[in-house]
Amino acid sequence: MFKILFVCTGNTCRSPMAEFLLRDFLEEEGIADISIQSAGISTMDGMEASQKAVTALQELGIDLQSHRSKRLDGGLLAEADLILTMTREHRDFILKNREVKEKNIYTLKEFVGLKDNKDIVDPYGRTIKDYRQTRDEISDSLQKLIVKLDQSKFKAGKKEKTENSIKGRDDKVMKVAIGADHAGYEMKKEIIDYFRQEGIDYQDLGTDSEDSVDYPDFAYKVAAGVATGDYDRGILICGTGIGMSIAANKVKDVRAALCHDVFSARSTRNHNNTNVLTMGARVIGNGLALEIVKVWLAEKFDGGRHQRRINKVQQIERGEF
Ligand code: RB5
Repeated sequence: MFKILFVCTGNTCRSPMAEFLLRDFLEEEGIADISIQSAGISTMDGMEASQKAVTALQELGIDLQSHRSKRLDGGLLAEADLILTMTREHRDFILKNREVKEKNIYTLKEFVGLKDNKDIVDPYGRTIKDYRQTRDEISDSLQKLIVKLDQSKFKAGKKEKTENSIKGRDDKVMKVAIGADHAGYEMKKEIIDYFRQEGIDYQDLGTDSEDSVDYPDFAYKVAAGVATGDYDRGILICGTGIGMSIAANKVKDVRAALCHDVFSARSTRNHNNTNVLTMGARVIGNGLALEIVKVWLAEKFDGGRHQRRINKVQQIERGEF
């Protein structure tokens, strides 16, 4: 069993994110013979992961709540075949103070060949957006790590992925924002009735009648609320669903999907990790719309290769592609 150890300062955000993300990626790739641990240089044993790190991974369907911090010690270092630190400072501290074979320790970014900016900086005390950025930075490096590791060496224990390996935020109570224009108003009421019956936590962001309004006003309210983390998911309804989808997708960090069938609703959660659903009340009836809502709210993100693709979409969004 090849052993990888991720190291950061407190072992409550960066290195646990790396540990859990990599475990998820390896599971997706069917690579079983790698064990992954994480530890912190200045920490105590037994602390929970920081809440924002938990949230950032929950958004990918990965549950970090079971993590408990570990203080780096000689035993963990001696056991590891590869030690990957978040910063050069971590790496140099270990090299100076501990007995490790120099060839086994790198910063994560230098190991995967990212030449500039070798550090993954600490998001501690910053916003959820910063945690998401750190998560994505780690995730990008891990995708390169998987390619770099000699996978054939680790394929022996290949195991089939099971449904149970998909965990995540959908296990906790979600808060849903819903909005519509005049064309979607009636359908919104139906969906809200369903939320009430089921005790789903929701916020109605309008419109409140069939008087003519402009769909971008409501698309923006819902999409911005999801992007800032005030809501976990958003649902938007207009006549066709198209205007809402165009407008919502202009908001950074929003992935809005127009769905008029259950297959698309399921797939777009599994593959695109969409956080906003749009529908057209002049295209489908309330019955189908409710089925779509149920499936879209319940389905989880599959992560793995789909996360790599989303990372690319996000690079396009940031103008870095
Ligand atoms: C309103 O008539 C209609 O244009 C709007 O509801 C929506 O379909 C836009 O995409």
